[in-house]
Amino acid sequence: MSSPMPSATSQQPERPTALFGTLLYGADYNPEQWPESLWQEDMRLMKLAGLNMVSINIFSWALLEPALDHYDFSQLDRLMDLLAEHGIAADLGTATAAPPPWMCREYPDILPVTREGLRLSYGSRQHFCPNSKNYRREAAELVRQLALRYRRHPALRLWHVNNEYGCHVPACYCDNCAVAFRSWLQQRYGSLETLNEVWGTAFWGQRYGHWEEIIPPRLTPAQPSPGLCLDYQRFMSSSLLECFLNEARILREITPHVPVTTNFMAAFKPLDYFAWAPHLDVIAFDNYPARSTPPSEIAFVHDLMRSLRNGQPHLVMEQAPGPVNWRPQNPQRRPGELRLQSLQALARGADGVMYFQWRQSRAGAEKFHSAVVSHDGSEQARVFREVEEIGAELKQLAPLIAGSRVPAQAALLMDWENWWAVEYQPGPSDRLHYWDLLHAYYQPLYSLNVPVAVVSPDSNWQGYRLLVAPLLYLLRPGLAQKLEHFVAAGGTLLITFFSGIVDAYDRVVTGGYPAELRRLLGLRVSEFDPWSEEMSNTLVIEEGALQGRYACSLWGEVLELEGAQALGRFASDYYAGSPALTVHHFGQGRAYYLATQPEAPFLRRLLQQLCQEAGLAPVLEAPAGVEISRRVAADGRSFYFLLNHTRQEVTLSLPAGHFRRLPEGEIASGQQRLAPLSVLVLQERN
Ligand code: GAL
Ligand code: ZN
Repeated sequence: MSSPMPSATSQQPERPTALFGTLLYGADYNPEQWPESLWQEDMRLMKLAGLNMVSINIFSWALLEPALDHYDFSQLDRLMDLLAEHGIAADLGTATAAPPPWMCREYPDILPVTREGLRLSYGSRQHFCPNSKNYRREAAELVRQLALRYRRHPALRLWHVNNEYGCHVPACYCDNCAVAFRSWLQQRYGSLETLNEVWGTAFWGQRYGHWEEIIPPRLTPAQPSPGLCLDYQRFMSSSLLECFLNEARILREITPHVPVTTNFMAAFKPLDYFAWAPHLDVIAFDNYPARSTPPSEIAFVHDLMRSLRNGQPHLVMEQAPGPVNWRPQNPQRRPGELRLQSLQALARGADGVMYFQWRQSRAGAEKFHSAVVSHDGSEQARVFREVEEIGAELKQLAPLIAGSRVPAQAALLMDWENWWAVEYQPGPSDRLHYWDLLHAYYQPLYSLNVPVAVVSPDSNWQGYRLLVAPLLYLLRPGLAQKLEHFVAAGGTLLITFFSGIVDAYDRVVTGGYPAELRRLLGLRVSEFDPWSEEMSNTLVIEEGALQGRYACSLWGEVLELEGAQALGRFASDYYAGSPALTVHHFGQGRAYYLATQPEAPFLRRLLQQLCQEAGLAPVLEAPAGVEISRRVAADGRSFYFLLNHTRQEVTLSLPAGHFRRLPEGEIASGQQRLAPLSVLVLQERN
């Protein structure tokens, strides 16, 4: 049994206390879908279930503004008052995700256009172009009205801007967007000469002579320019961020005391959440894992969300209490699964979990989506009872764990721009999926119960001892130097294949791959070989702790060493015997390079060794399928979450006299049994 890890210095709070001082527990509440006579019953049931916050007004624009400049807040007034009366806080939606039908008829340019040139219709939701001036103006006006009206309302606790930006319309290709894109490019590049140069428009005669010639990457006969596509992704992420800021600025001006957020969406490629995060006061995201999503991947998402604001507790804004309605089949959650998923969120640093939604709709596209209160309305229903039990437990845990942090000294490097660039087709392989590869390296650390932070090239890396950077194809300016500095100062770094290939404009850096990383890695990649599905190789390690033969897939490379040492070699093909795993001593640290994608058991052994070298120990050791996470409060108290994700009972041994079981408080030591799908929360005794 290893001792708990020392506190990390890497994730110091930016704000002295938690944003809310408690654990939030709530749901999306859409009472406008029901007669007001039912609202009292909702309040009774919410109190029974232990809710302390609800997200309201998310899609109410048509209700609040039934005609141009004609506002009607009477129903929302009654709702806000009712919540205040019952001590339930409002996460107040700005309602801008669904412009009313009349508005779309009045200003047709609000409706977004697809890559194929089709204008989408109103009649569902998110039918807005982020660069429509009419949309921005109307949204700003509504938000101003809301903020002025409710600024002193006791129920107002959090602003919920729009909803899941980019979910249905990650990019718009309309003429408004073309105009805005041109001015964005003018700001970025200054001259057309520079733009032609960085996009490499000499290729296929794509040279631009006038700014007006530049259009979004619409449907073209063959692939549009990668430089254009990459910039369009940047532009769209920042256009949607501008929409968020269009509202957030008004909210901050009128209600500076109320935090502002929007709900992110897990592994969402279109938006660079690292670029967005500084503009949110609290990170919130919607957690809808599939049945097949491994717990490690859900944990990875939590770690990412928690890391976006440097370890500040995040919030699960939505999770389904039972089935969703939007997968091809939508089975029930099995008993225990909801508690496990909710406590996993807390374990990994969240300060609250909320459900979508409170009361199951009787009409509309989501009428078969689960809710806390199902169609039968009964508090005896299994799901309601589970929600109620979790609510009671959170209430007891709140004073202890709210605001505590998850210290980590291992970090995974993630870069959205790299994600966009590496998956451009036709690239060398359509089998490179950045998120999956990140997860492949996260998973072994997770299964070793070593806490991980997710960092971007711009993050502060101080305090991390191990940094893993899979598939770092695009190198932003200064990143190679930052990596060198990290290793030179004693860090352990692992970089994997197809890294250091292009600059920030997706232009190959010539003179030998991996360009700027050659010095750090001490090698040159003379050829890379993207394998098709049926191709594979074997990684052979002759000696040491990693000794063995391991299957590898996806990719091979021919390396020439320039100071690095070969630790493992390819077994076959025309590069049999050439290095596949290398290490380079650089300054005080070591830089490892993997030229292929080895099977999971090898990655686990490799990461275990790198953790040992970097002096990182597991939070606690546990059998397979048991996730362990630790939160540390400002006063130094530690809380351990032991989550059994398996469908069998497992036993693990705890050091004697070390822990108290929460919430009851009895001493826990020696052999502990964890029932299938169960969770144990322990407090370390001082
Ligand atoms: C989310 C969305 C909610 C609801 C939910 C259903 O994506 O924000 O409004 O639609 O999905 O699972
Ligand atoms: Zn548009």
